[in-house]
Amino acid sequence: MPVNLTKIMEKLTFTSVLDYVVPVTLFLGVLLILHVLKQMLLPHIYPMFLNSFMRKYNEAMGSFKAELLKEMKDQVESLREKPVDGGEGSVNGESHPSLTVLEIGVGAGANFKYYPDGTSVIAVEPNKNFASYLEQNVAEHFPRVRLERTVVAFGEDLRGHVDDCSVDAVVITLVLCSVQDVDAVIREVKRVLKPDGKFYFLEHVAADPQTWTSTLQWVIQPIWSYFGDGCQLTRKISAEVDRAGFCKVHHQRFRAHPKFPRVLRPHLMGVATKSVSSASQSC
Ligand SMILES: C[S@@+](CC[C@H](N)C(=O)[O-])C[C@H]1O[C@@H](n2cnc3c(N)ncnc32)[C@H](O)[C@@H]1O
Repeated sequence: MPVNLTKIMEKLTFTSVLDYVVPVTLFLGVLLILHVLKQMLLPHIYPMFLNSFMRKYNEAMGSFKAELLKEMKDQVESLREKPVDGGEGSVNGESHPSLTVLEIGVGAGANFKYYPDGTSVIAVEPNKNFASYLEQNVAEHFPRVRLERTVVAFGEDLRGHVDDCSVDAVVITLVLCSVQDVDAVIREVKRVLKPDGKFYFLEHVAADPQTWTSTLQWVIQPIWSYFGDGCQLTRKISAEVDRAGFCKVHHQRFRAHPKFPRVLRPHLMGVATKSVSSASQSC
């Protein structure tokens, strides 16, 4: 049956248009207000939420993080063998060969418990509201780790904050899911590492394709990212690390504890080493 447009227009009186326009405008207005409130409040609420969530996360993931960062002890040993290259650090009056670690997206400092005694940390964090949690955590729980300085910046561009070839290790955990540009962050990691320096990473990643978890990740991705400070569930990360030009890369996939939401269970962790030869060109 042909649609009679004239009849429809006749029925659509000014009041009936208002019947729709007013509630729709109100609804959009409420959404806009909620969006503005979220943009204003999230940077303050997020550190509070993350500080307690990360405590639970680390209880469940502690063994993986400890496994990932255990090579740091070997790095300290090799500094001990080469005292001229490795600086001496003093923590609580004791001397240690001091490993300089750059942690990008440090949050409230959940990884500090895995750092060897005497480690000196440069902490990068774009959200300045984390600073008080970090400083309190370090002072209360990690007196044997030195917070050298905190840098309020994005990991994508640390020039002007961290010199080329200046740190022994870079640590990034659960950050690459929410950065704007994964490749740019990894380029910065390579730039600041000393020759033979190590990049330690641990991230939640995309599930294997054609699984229920993968479908679920893609379906809830937009809303997850909106409320989760830009966190993406569907990043792979391994490809970006593989093509970054490190001399040695090893990574492994693993599944987090079943008490985690299904979409957050697939993980990747690994270590990449900056080569001595490519470093000599840029360092
Ligand atoms: C889920 S938290 C992880 C905190 C900590 N790395 C951990 O494992 O507990 C993600 C952190 O990355 C930070 N972040 C987000 N985008 C970033 C970027 N482009 N550069 C550096 N840090 C970023 C956030 O502010 C937040 O502190």
